[in-house]
Amino acid sequence: MEKTLILLKPDSLQRGLSGEIISRFEKKGFKIIGMKLIKVSKDLAETHYSEHKGKPFFEDLVAFITSSPIIAMVIETQNAINIARNMMGSTNPIDALPGTIRGDFGISVEYNIIHGSDSETSAKREISLFFNEKELIEYSKPIQKWITGD
Ligand code: RTP
Ligand code: MG
Repeated sequence: MEKTLILLKPDSLQRGLSGEIISRFEKKGFKIIGMKLIKVSKDLAETHYSEHKGKPFFEDLVAFITSSPIIAMVIETQNAINIARNMMGSTNPIDALPGTIRGDFGISVEYNIIHGSDSETSAKREISLFFNEKELIEYSKPIQKWITGD
């Protein structure tokens, strides 16, 4: 099963949206295998977003993600990365369709509520930045066979 890293950014928690967003992933059929509330350090933020270093929004992005706690989670299912990205909607909420997380709750590209890994390589890298192996819990959910057949 594919895993992806989801971050509920500081605006999610400040606005009281975290339960709603977690619930969407649960109802879709993802299995949560890791979850924690953390205050992201500047080091971790800069490493996580290193692909954007040098871009005009990099400093603001790091300041935002470190400004208040986030919820980090690892969720799993078939095609988890693409399914989660589709549920999140486009990066800029102007382009995000209604029914997506950013489309339903976002206005600003800076305060865009959620992060999700964008490829298998990113998912592996990002999961290992936020979680150690012991914090990821493998368990079976019998209902899974009614979601993916597995
Ligand atoms: P994320 O990494 O947060 O899941 O978002 P993403 O893949 O959809 O977008 P990405 O291109 O990786 O950009 C990372 C985050 O940087 C902020 N951003 N601000 N001001 C701007 O023009 C701008 N562009 C990007 C967004 O918060 C975006 O989620
Ligand atoms: Mg990204």
